[in-house]
Amino acid sequence: MPRKPFIAGNWKMHNTIEQTKTLAAAVKAAANPNNAEVMIAPVFTALSAAAQALKGSDIILSAQDCFFEEKGAFTSQISAGQVKDAGCTHVILGHSERRALFGDSDEIINKKIKAAVKQGLKVVFCIGETLAEREENRTMTVLTRQIEAGLDGLSKEDLKDLIVAYEPVWAIGTGKTATPAMAQETHCQIRALLSAKFTAPFAGAVRILYGGSVKADNVDALMAQADIDGVLVGGQSLEAQNFARIIGYQK
Ligand code: PGA
Repeated sequence: MPRKPFIAGNWKMHNTIEQTKTLAAAVKAAANPNNAEVMIAPVFTALSAAAQALKGSDIILSAQDCFFEEKGAFTSQISAGQVKDAGCTHVILGHSERRALFGDSDEIINKKIKAAVKQGLKVVFCIGETLAEREENRTMTVLTRQIEAGLDGLSKEDLKDLIVAYEPVWAIGTGKTATPAMAQETHCQIRALLSAKFTAPFAGAVRILYGGSVKADNVDALMAQADIDGVLVGGQSLEAQNFARIIGYQK
């Protein structure tokens, strides 16, 4: 079974509710010649409005994070159930900005994935090494730890809709992209890790996205790689025309 391409926009802490509606409408109007699954992840405050704006389309709505507790005295936090209530079917977990700036450890991410799965949310699970880790040849050690700890205690049935996003931290928002060959090699290794942890058919079906400075002029070469099933786009997903070009990548 070929893996369906998956093109995701992580809008991070950008846009008002009105701007979110406008951008969501532009994504909805974009041509989708590759029949890709297309996902957007606006800020929490604009999720309901985005859900309304996306009505009648197949565009997937995702949150950028969720907390692992179901409810209670957790000032500022938003549960998986509340994310679903806002109209999301997906949630991004383990993004490197969450890991680096907000202290999301592998253990916390694992709890969040479990909470999301319990609510029936589909998880875009981000992993990736820092520049120092790559230069010290520790990329695979880091990715193995992130996968082992992040997915600990979850079965392949729990994770049947899992999407993995490989985002080398040194490529996020820096303009530096991993070369397509470098990304392909790492994606292939990630698939092998998933195969060893779960099964070969499981690993063969999981979509692995590449993220980190994806743009209109590098998406084609990335998407041409056998194990790159999609992209997770930050900055360039805020520009309607550029994101439309990324959705319409050329094979
Ligand atoms: P970028 O962000 O495309 O701006 O590098 C990617 C991401 O953080 O998901």
